[in-house]
Amino acid sequence: MYQWTKRDLDDMEVRPIEQAETIPAHWFTHPDMDKTDRQLILAKSWQYVGHESQIARPGDYLVDDIIGRPILVVRNQSSDILCFSNVCRHRGGPLATKSGSARMLRCVYHAWTYNLEGALVGAPKFEGVENFNKQDCTLPRYRMESYEGFLFVNFSGDAPPLAQHLAGIKETIKPINLSDMRFYKRVVYEVSANWKVYIDNYMEGYHILPVHPGLAKILDVSGYKTTIEGSKVLQYGPLAGEDNPYHTGGAAYYYQVFPNLMLNILPGRVQMNSILPIDADRCLTVFDFFFSETDVAKLDIRAKDDLEISDVVQKEDIWICELIQKGLKSGTYDKGRICVQEERGVWAFQNNLRDAYRNLATGKN
Ligand code: FES
Ligand SMILES: [Fe+2]
Repeated sequence: MYQWTKRDLDDMEVRPIEQAETIPAHWFTHPDMDKTDRQLILAKSWQYVGHESQIARPGDYLVDDIIGRPILVVRNQSSDILCFSNVCRHRGGPLATKSGSARMLRCVYHAWTYNLEGALVGAPKFEGVENFNKQDCTLPRYRMESYEGFLFVNFSGDAPPLAQHLAGIKETIKPINLSDMRFYKRVVYEVSANWKVYIDNYMEGYHILPVHPGLAKILDVSGYKTTIEGSKVLQYGPLAGEDNPYHTGGAAYYYQVFPNLMLNILPGRVQMNSILPIDADRCLTVFDFFFSETDVAKLDIRAKDDLEISDVVQKEDIWICELIQKGLKSGTYDKGRICVQEERGVWAFQNNLRDAYRNLATGKN
């Protein structure tokens, strides 16, 4: 884990935005800081996994790897959703390598079988092994909760309830209804930048004109407002008319929920966006697209345009984030100042980081 210094403690001080500096470069680049982020920040919080509808029937399961922890999420015979460590008790093999459906979970390595409750029921040719009890080989379970059908895992088991973590979102976005949304597609990108660089970039529209000239032409973000609600930062703005690229009127809600979740909500559409560090210099951005449209032809038109815009904008964001990571590692840069008009979101996210790090450094957590 990262060893905090006196200088780090000074950098944890939260200042008014007019006087604030950005967090120091080494918080984005130090390998030990990455371990601290993954084990003490992200594993202790709620991590987005997927949607209940993706495992609609008993036996359906989802497989994923979140911050280096392989998981298998299954709907059991009683229709409860359970999240297991996808690591066999024999010699560490996976029970499954991709999502699917099964009556039993069978390890791909030597075919030990587990029921949907995670109990070991079969270990081929294990007669003769002394003091071996199947009861000692139950799959470890992680805490899982659901918000309006969206599934989240908490690896440490001690995070506050999910409903509290996401409180206020479904009320704020009315009449948009999260529970109407159906899973459409997952798109994953690997980015050669620290996960916090990617989120910082998400938190402001200051870079839209220089970095996303195409987006700047079709979307007016001048009416966007940033609201800070503790661990949630909301960027909110009207969508001008129905001729905008998202084919919808109403308003857009861009939520960042500390530490690493974004919900991009438009009428009839939600994009869940989870930013997962691989190491200090790399992260995965997982985009899950959901739409409420049930007419397949209409859905395809809307989704196609949405995914195309998202891909263009994402590639521009990846380009700039990767350059920023290089800048942060250059040795010539430590901290900068914050634009009061445009970077309130960056300031808020970095203050949430400061609070989390201060709690770690002072032993409050
Ligand atoms: S590792 Fe799973 S059966 Fe051997
Ligand atoms: Fe961007």
